[in-house]
Amino acid sequence: MKKFAIIITVLVASLSIFAGIFGYGQGGEVNVYTSRHYDTDQQLYDEFTKLTGIKVNVIKAGEDELIERMKNEGEDTNADLFITADVGRLHRAKMLGLLQPIVSETLTKNIPDNLRDRDNYWYALTVRARVLAYAPERVDISKIKTYGDLINPEWKGKILIRSSSNIYNQSLVASFIALYGEDWALNWAKGIVANIAREPQGNDRAQVIAVAAGEGDIAVINTYYMGKMLNSSDEQQVNAAKKVKLYFPEKTHINVSGAGISKYAKNKENAIKLLEFLTSKEAQRLYAEANYEYPANPEVEPSEFLKSFGDFKPQEIDLTLLGEYNSKAVEIMDKAGWK
Ligand SMILES: [Fe+2]
Repeated sequence: MKKFAIIITVLVASLSIFAGIFGYGQGGEVNVYTSRHYDTDQQLYDEFTKLTGIKVNVIKAGEDELIERMKNEGEDTNADLFITADVGRLHRAKMLGLLQPIVSETLTKNIPDNLRDRDNYWYALTVRARVLAYAPERVDISKIKTYGDLINPEWKGKILIRSSSNIYNQSLVASFIALYGEDWALNWAKGIVANIAREPQGNDRAQVIAVAAGEGDIAVINTYYMGKMLNSSDEQQVNAAKKVKLYFPEKTHINVSGAGISKYAKNKENAIKLLEFLTSKEAQRLYAEANYEYPANPEVEPSEFLKSFGDFKPQEIDLTLLGEYNSKAVEIMDKAGWK
């Protein structure tokens, strides 16, 4: 009888240690403002609730809309965790005073240095690369090794890329400022303007469709759009995607989607727990796969589908710089006449 009592005590003790780690039984809630809109995300929130008892309330809207909303709501905001895409936007949220720095052993372990804000205001959740989608029958890809090669006069009238108002291109140019300096970046932007097949228009998918239609030969796009197009219910998108091949230039430009804790979070501890959960090995693969992205946690392998696109070596830069050089990048693109 005594032995039985000891076993029960040990069991209860270990359960409460487990509960302590995961906060199970504390309940409460956490409010997420997110620009992601995938069923998989909801599955992960449900899983988190099962583990912790914390209810996840989700508000979905466009990236810039959410920033605007948090700005307007100020101290009264309901946002606890803010999730969005592109370092440019995460940095904007940081600079607008919408986020607060978070130091957590788990986050530091799960997310490498270069994939989180230098001052810990945001952490990457997924990684995407900005690469080339080209027409294999018209482009001898062995002539291209780097992004710099795109401004070779040989490609005059062949390059398809969206407008300079797009944050992905701003971050791309910001990465060149960080790696090669302002003069290099300006020269590159001018060279792109000289080589474009048409005035910038449409999103990344539109550039792929234009390559497939023969309007140009080489498009600059984010990797996940290839996944989205190949798996689209729209036949035009599938056919266009099948006509192009992806090429990862040397020192491939990467960006992230990521998350930060709202400066005025009312459920801060719960928000940290959710962020830790989303960066965990258990959650990362599912989380990344929902949008055909690479996991941010290096212990998690990308999906087989993504691996089939090819391997690459990313630019070695602290991604915080993409945010810090954003306005410089916009200025440079303007100067180059990039519409
Ligand atoms: Fe996108």
